[in-house]
Amino acid sequence: MSKTQYSICRCFFTHNIFLKEYNIHVKYREKDQFLQDYSQVLWTKGCSSPDLLIPKLEAEYLRRKQLHDESWNRQLLVAKEYKPIHPQIFTLQPLFLDPRFQEIVSLAEKPEQMVDGILKHMESHQERIYSLPVFTKEFCKLFLDELVNFEESPLPKDQPNTMNQYGIKLDEFGFDNFISSLRQTYLTPLTKLLFPDVGGESLDSHKAFIVTYKEGQDVDLDYHYDNAEVTLNVCLNEDFSDGDLYFGPMRNETSSQRLGYSHKLGRGVLHRGQQRHGALPISDGVRYNLIVWMRSSQVRNELCPMCDEKPCLVPVKNGYGDGFTTSTVDICSTV
Ligand SMILES: [Fe+2]
Ligand SMILES: [Zn+2]
Repeated sequence: MSKTQYSICRCFFTHNIFLKEYNIHVKYREKDQFLQDYSQVLWTKGCSSPDLLIPKLEAEYLRRKQLHDESWNRQLLVAKEYKPIHPQIFTLQPLFLDPRFQEIVSLAEKPEQMVDGILKHMESHQERIYSLPVFTKEFCKLFLDELVNFEESPLPKDQPNTMNQYGIKLDEFGFDNFISSLRQTYLTPLTKLLFPDVGGESLDSHKAFIVTYKEGQDVDLDYHYDNAEVTLNVCLNEDFSDGDLYFGPMRNETSSQRLGYSHKLGRGVLHRGQQRHGALPISDGVRYNLIVWMRSSQVRNELCPMCDEKPCLVPVKNGYGDGFTTSTVDICSTV
């Protein structure tokens, strides 16, 4: 029996550190390199003492070094201690899915199906951004109850990614099998047709999380691209105002065109992860979104999207890492 060894790219520790107050992503290896590389640009953004940022950057570097082990420990603790209010929702069931979504997936699964055969059943925005109903309102309500219950519990949580400060990592919350089923059984048939050129045919891992937007916490999300080949973003509630998504070009293209998208309860947007996007501020209420970053090891093993180089692999002990794979390891020979 063999097991895939998942990895992260070494750039995870040092690259793409987001300084929200100056709206800039930086690399941090050590103090002198940082000051040399960024003092001037930070100065133009109104930062007169870049050296005051060093403790924060050091702390972020250390947080990232420990992140995978700590995340696994939290996952074990939550599995042991958390008392779900709706235990039935931790396993994906077809009844959670909007019947129209199931219909689109069965169309996509037909042999010889062409992309046009499914496009007429979903909304096509420009630039290969598609939206479609995903979950029923009833499921969204139960899921939200469970998320709020977990948020209010004293169990430890971590920020969902390097840009969103507030939310829940779904592997830590016990939803990893749920998301695997969603990805393998339902989303892959769609991404095979919609995004074969960016790895949509070979998505083999994911990182999934809930992001929350709320007055006094994060209200918006700066312009960025995802560490993913394909992203699904589903809105789980409707008690908020404004906060549209906006999309620009792919990360290696330039265009000033921006396309807006308004979230609707239970509806998801599918887009290429490396298409730049952001979220405008919400003006009222709280918004919960489910984000699934889907990864193809076949694609990213060739080029890490975060450092734009052949990835320098650091194996992780548990989980999918950032979706890179090293080689297969024969378990029998290692136990
Ligand atoms: Fe994103
Ligand atoms: Zn990298």
